[in-house]
Amino acid sequence: MTNAVVTGGAGFIGSHVVAYLVDQGWDVTVVDNLATGDAARVHPKATLTQASITDASAMGPLLQNAEYVFHLAALPRIQPSFDDPVGHEEVNVVGTIRCLEAVKGSSRLKKFVLASSSACYGNPDEVPTSESATISCLSPYALQKYAAEQYTLILGERFDIPVVSLRYFNVYGPGSFNPKNPFNAYSSVVGVFHEKMKAGRPLTITGDGSQERDFVHVDDVARANYMAATKAAAGSVYNVGSGITVSINELAHYFGGPVEHIPERQGEALVTHANVSKITTELGWKPEISMAEGIVSLSN
Ligand SMILES: NC(=O)c1ccc[n+]([C@@H]2O[C@H](COP(=O)([O-])OP(=O)(O)OC[C@H]3O[C@@H](n4cnc5c(N)ncnc54)[C@H](O)[C@@H]3O)[C@@H](O)[C@H]2O)c1
Repeated sequence: MTNAVVTGGAGFIGSHVVAYLVDQGWDVTVVDNLATGDAARVHPKATLTQASITDASAMGPLLQNAEYVFHLAALPRIQPSFDDPVGHEEVNVVGTIRCLEAVKGSSRLKKFVLASSSACYGNPDEVPTSESATISCLSPYALQKYAAEQYTLILGERFDIPVVSLRYFNVYGPGSFNPKNPFNAYSSVVGVFHEKMKAGRPLTITGDGSQERDFVHVDDVARANYMAATKAAAGSVYNVGSGITVSINELAHYFGGPVEHIPERQGEALVTHANVSKITTELGWKPEISMAEGIVSLSN
């Protein structure tokens, strides 16, 4: 049976990656310290090991025998990364290096798939944004995700580790709203709107609501991880988005009901819009879940 380790597998996206791999018949171990994750999210057929990716002595034995490593563990929050850049650097950058060191020399490893972020494009100079667009980080979080990606590519080449980096755009879907982690990157706006709508409370729009987001469903992202692991060439970097944008005002219309405006936040981009032609051409991946279907999935 194919075996995989998913770091951050008790989190929002990681738990969907775990479920997807279990559905493929894979034997999955989750490595997560439950900083923002929840053990109850881990698929019952997967094994949860509570450990921090920053703990080198724990990571070696946990990752050394894996055939596939999906590295999603991170502190994925833009605003808190301004408040504690050092603490976030330790997890997002040093934790990634620890994971790479842990698989160094492994003869079993077939692929190390990193969860990177479209945050590295900042306010992009090219829309839709391709992987070759200018890097322009607006927050410690964005810079750390980009640094983690570059470490992955550089150490991957030096240590002969087959690595792939996936730059997720704004991921949403069931479980994106986590009461433990309510400011989770930008993606939580879909989950927050859903929660507010259920509670009969006004939808909070940051700024004037004209900012556009490329929302990609978490099940599409889970499938992209699987395809990257099984099909991508080592050293590849791919955008993972829907290729379509929705403004926050439009999103509020989808949900309906009253809205209230709150001040815009530092470090957040005006537009995220993925050009996904590279992953579509090279791996045959394309987004399959529309926003309308995705919003329905939130209630499942
Ligand atoms: N949500 C998005 O829209 C989005 C967009 C781009 C990239 N990403 C990336 O995707 C990944 C998953 O994000 P998410 O939205 O599911 O966040 P999440 O907070 O739900 O999941 C992160 C998981 O990592 C775990 N974790 C944190 N620190 C850890 C540590 N030191 N050791 C072990 N585990 C630790 C948490 O407990 C949690 O389960 C992150 O790498 C994030 O940067 C997310």
